[in-house]
Amino acid sequence: MSHPLAPRYDGHEAVRSDIDTRPHDGSSPHAGSSPHAATEDAAATLAAVETHHPKRLRLTVAEVLVETVSTRTFRLRRPDGRDLPPFLAGQYVGVFADGTNRPYAIASSPARLDHWDLTVRRVPGGRISNHLIDTLAPGDTLTTTGPTGTFHHNPLFHGEDVVFLAGGSGVVPAMSMIREIVDHGLPRRFHLLLGSRTADDIIFRTELDALAAAHPDIHVHHVVQDTGDVRGAPDGWTGPTGLLTAALIDTLVGPLDGRTVYVCGPQALYPYALRQLADLGHPRRRIRFEANGAPTDPTAQPHWPTGNDPAGEVTVTARGRTFRTRRDRPLLDALEDAGVRPEAACRSGECGLCRVRVVKGQVHTALEARLRLSDERFGYTHSCVAYPITDTELDL
Ligand SMILES: Cc1cc2nc3c(=O)[nH]c(=O)nc-3n(C[C@H](O)[C@H](O)[C@H](O)COP(=O)(O)OP(=O)(O)OC[C@H]3O[C@@H](n4cnc5c(N)ncnc54)[C@H](O)[C@@H]3O)c2cc1C
Ligand code: FES
Repeated sequence: MSHPLAPRYDGHEAVRSDIDTRPHDGSSPHAGSSPHAATEDAAATLAAVETHHPKRLRLTVAEVLVETVSTRTFRLRRPDGRDLPPFLAGQYVGVFADGTNRPYAIASSPARLDHWDLTVRRVPGGRISNHLIDTLAPGDTLTTTGPTGTFHHNPLFHGEDVVFLAGGSGVVPAMSMIREIVDHGLPRRFHLLLGSRTADDIIFRTELDALAAAHPDIHVHHVVQDTGDVRGAPDGWTGPTGLLTAALIDTLVGPLDGRTVYVCGPQALYPYALRQLADLGHPRRRIRFEANGAPTDPTAQPHWPTGNDPAGEVTVTARGRTFRTRRDRPLLDALEDAGVRPEAACRSGECGLCRVRVVKGQVHTALEARLRLSDERFGYTHSCVAYPITDTELDL
């Protein structure tokens, strides 16, 4: 029997027919046909897993689209033209460049798997965003992970009436969700409040406005922060200005009631948005959040141990190497600086791939780390959001 939601997903008929052709008694479909049947089954299973959940992909940059002065979209395709692995709108891929990796949300629609769009905004002084924007050109090859991440819509839990508060490049997963609604004709009401620094900084502005104009259930409000520049901006901005305050949310999207609210953007957006939503009486369980990276200032967190100079250096030992690093540098970055490369995907504390065990020393784990109870008990931390306070020895 097929799940009622199955027909909404691309390729479900092929998957269904594959399942239907398998024997129901657990025996091999190849039983008796070959002495190597079990090996062939395992190889076929591995190939299927690799197709849908590849660890690494080598993709071609087919196009580079200019979104704003500081933002580019890299359109990626498989070199052989085959479809890319499926993903859920809101998920991201890890991009490998310059000896490290960074997560970037997929901006394109899950309904169009001939390409993935990654939309990258330049972070001043940032290593990889600048590297990608300044060096990637059509015809280049980019290595990525397969799609991953839990920040995606599930109609069973999150309903069909959602609000999305985005800041800057936090609009990227929202764009994918909106494109999916349009491509699949989903019966979902989607309300986007997009905060940008200036009117010129608004990513996807033309497309978002066109989609909102054409689809009555898609609502888009741009809010610009920098009123100083904006009033005199060439396009004469007259829309809402300032931050995404409780009052503005209430005015633009109406009562939140049981709606799921997505929040995505820079680290600082989360505590701010949480306060606004709490002021509106919205329950925490109805809020889903994704931050675009490690905390910008880990020392600002209340449990940062006092009396330690964040710029002071300590000694870290891991995988037989010993090196010096600053207290306010995430352990994952420090390990990479020293040529040690743990697995990592989200680099924001969520996925747990960069987990390491602290054998000796004191480490500050930021609030963003989604640790399991047993991690704390047995001394594990998420190295992307953990900072060495004293000389430290790690097991990884
Ligand atoms: C799940 C996930 C999805 C993401 N999706 C996107 C996306 O679709 N598009 C996109 O442009 N970025 C996205 N990011 C952010 C991206 O992964 C990088 O963090 C960002 O490009 C900066 O990397 P960098 O190497 O240039 O900067 P780094 O060299 O890593 O950092 C330089 C400095 O900038 C700060 N910083 C890092 N990121 C930001 C930021 N976003 N805003 C302000 N300051 C920052 C750091 O704290 C550090 O102090 C996503 C992040 C996550 C966790
Ligand atoms: S890389 Fe995901 S938790 Fe650190």
